Amino acid sequence: MSPRFTLDPFIEQYAHRTSSMLSSQIRDLLAVTARPDIISMAGGLPFTQAFDPEVILRTVRRVLEEDYAAALQYGPTDGYAPLKHSLVEVMREEGTVCFPEDIMITNGAQQGLEIITKIFINPGDHIIVEAPSYVGALNSFQSYQPRIHAVDMDEAGMIIDRLRVMLRELDAGGNHVKFIYTIPNFQNPAGITLSTERRAQLIEAARDYDCLIVEDNPYGLLRFEGTAGPTLRSMDRERVIYLGTLSKIFSAGMRIGWIAAPHPILNKLLLAKQSADLCTSSFTQRIAHIYFSEEDWRGQVRRLLEIYRNRCHAMLSAMDEHLSGLAEWTRPEGGFFLWASLPDYVNTSEMLASAIGMKVAYVPGSGFFPGEGGENCMRLNYSYADDEMAEEGIKRLAKVIKREVSLAKALGLDKRS
Ligand SMILES: Cc1ncc(COP(=O)(O)O)c(C=O)c1O
Repeated sequence: MSPRFTLDPFIEQYAHRTSSMLSSQIRDLLAVTARPDIISMAGGLPFTQAFDPEVILRTVRRVLEEDYAAALQYGPTDGYAPLKHSLVEVMREEGTVCFPEDIMITNGAQQGLEIITKIFINPGDHIIVEAPSYVGALNSFQSYQPRIHAVDMDEAGMIIDRLRVMLRELDAGGNHVKFIYTIPNFQNPAGITLSTERRAQLIEAARDYDCLIVEDNPYGLLRFEGTAGPTLRSMDRERVIYLGTLSKIFSAGMRIGWIAAPHPILNKLLLAKQSADLCTSSFTQRIAHIYFSEEDWRGQVRRLLEIYRNRCHAMLSAMDEHLSGLAEWTRPEGGFFLWASLPDYVNTSEMLASAIGMKVAYVPGSGFFPGEGGENCMRLNYSYADDEMAEEGIKRLAKVIKREVSLAKALGLDKRS
């Protein structure tokens, strides 16, 4: 236990589930990256400056003029019904047929993850995730104390042969897997997309071992290259619990996400949400409904794609120029992130302090794994930094890595691996 936690006078009183919620040195270090002199590729923020404030203003005004009293009031736990119709349209954009009654609106996809875990997971239950996976999901999962198994990915996403081996071994030991969690499009953190062929194989494996699939799809509409595969939900409505969000295509600040799931599961989720927060904000749900039913949201997504495509390309070409031979990285076709792997004798958590010293930041890879892994990797975000910042940030990062590699070589660490 670190000395910091022994200073907490309440340490003996917290529930066991909080043991995985401890703050980490990495998080403390990353907290300083908000300083304006640091080029941070550590965040994951959508570029909300790309929205026209006039559009937002007139949408909010409409909400208040139409029925300000209802906008200020509690609403139904499962969400504002007209917004569900808009979300059906958003899902249709990705080729997924869904009905308003299949949807429950949540406080962001994050709440979806939390309440799905709450209704399914007893301590010791088994779940499967991709390696690496989204930290927010891992945190929600861990607080309900399951055994989390991670399946490696390659450039086509989760390696289904390995998933099958894992499922077979768990099954042989009498262990049923409650769900498989996947982010099939432009995965956070790896920037990888699950191929269409693997999507079918994943569904088949889940059917064979009777597992649910949790499909977390915040970035699906942010494809700036290539062609989209079908959503898992469109392939199996009875087995897939789908998580959507408006955070990346509209506003993260409105806190609106949704779950599309089989009805019995929705009924249970409703009870879990009720005890968590009664309802999602009536005010922001109405704003979102007006925005998605009356404004040119598809045009705005196209504008966002243009920005993210350019930023991704700027970062990739800076990496080609400055990091070739020092690292390998993924080439995303959409979303916000790419994943870089350094020589395996470089520890990116240990390197972070020197990177911050050089006024550049990234997220070290190890936090994205439920167990060991990713120690020589990092997640880089390109959605927020403009081209010049990306170029300068990567240049600084290359200097830090070069220094780290030379040091490791001088100490003979490169020979040990
Ligand atoms: C994979 C993934 N799932 C869920 C979320 C949470 O999104 P929301 O803002 O809808 O809670 C994020 C946010 O970055 C994410 O990357």
